[in-house]
Amino acid sequence: MDVTPRLHSPSTGVVITGGASGLGRATAEALAAVGRPVSLWDLDAEKTARVADEIARRYEVPTQGLAVDVRDPKALERGVASARQAMPNIGGLVHAAGVVDTDSLDGLTAEGWDDGIRVHLRPVALLAKALLPDLAAQPGSAIVAFASINATLGNAANPIYSAAKGGALSLVRSLADRLARDGIRINAISPGQIRTPMLAPSVEHLGEAAYTRRILLERLGEPEEIGRVVRFLLSDEASYITAAEIVVDGGNISSQRM
Ligand SMILES: NC(=O)c1ccc[n+]([C@@H]2O[C@H](COP(=O)([O-])OP(=O)(O)OC[C@H]3O[C@@H](n4cnc5c(N)ncnc54)[C@H](O)[C@@H]3O)[C@@H](O)[C@H]2O)c1
Repeated sequence: MDVTPRLHSPSTGVVITGGASGLGRATAEALAAVGRPVSLWDLDAEKTARVADEIARRYEVPTQGLAVDVRDPKALERGVASARQAMPNIGGLVHAAGVVDTDSLDGLTAEGWDDGIRVHLRPVALLAKALLPDLAAQPGSAIVAFASINATLGNAANPIYSAAKGGALSLVRSLADRLARDGIRINAISPGQIRTPMLAPSVEHLGEAAYTRRILLERLGEPEEIGRVVRFLLSDEASYITAAEIVVDGGNISSQRM
């Protein structure tokens, strides 16, 4: 049996949406640490370029930081064209861009609904299609879409987010069937409560114990603990994993603690 560690294989470039913050950034760092080039896409041009520069200096890999609003199909097309120029090849995609609604059903609007689906769900399909020739050309190519434990939990606070994340799980399974024909794997990762800017306002408002008392490991997750799992899913170590949801929540949705 071949037991060679293959976390650094393939060594192809990876596009990461939401790459300037939190879990997207942690994913970029994990990949760069094993030598994979990364193209970071996020809303703020200056911040994204700065994060890309920091990663390039720390890990000595080609990086790119681009302003791409993933809600805009034209911006996605421009991003793909630019990433093709900046990286030797593209063999991975991570969709980590995200926002969370907190107004429950009472604050729900048609615009907010469309916005949530445009951010979380549509880019996975549009980018999988646009990058298909690139990914198919590179052995071991893979995609990771960020879902959430909220795809499974009933949380009154964020119906749009929950629906989009649930949709991401179904979309991943559908795309996995098509992409497998080109040798491409696709999986969803569902983090629990991870210490990032997205979670910070809720932790501040409710207190950390409100979360940690029901988590079996009794703590919030750190972004690196998610980045490492995404890196694994994009590597040949995960060569037989596709159409799966990988839950990384410290024992949260399985907990009955009060
Ligand atoms: N932190 C958690 O506890 C947690 C739990 C489950 C799932 N997630 C998911 O993980 C992903 C990353 O979240 P995070 O915690 O790192 O949050 P974060 O706020 O730190 O990072 C999200 C990034 O996405 C970017 N973004 C938002 N809208 C965008 C758009 N239209 N175009 C391009 N970029 C956009 C933001 O600018 C930000 O840099 C999200 O999909 C989120 O839903 C997070």
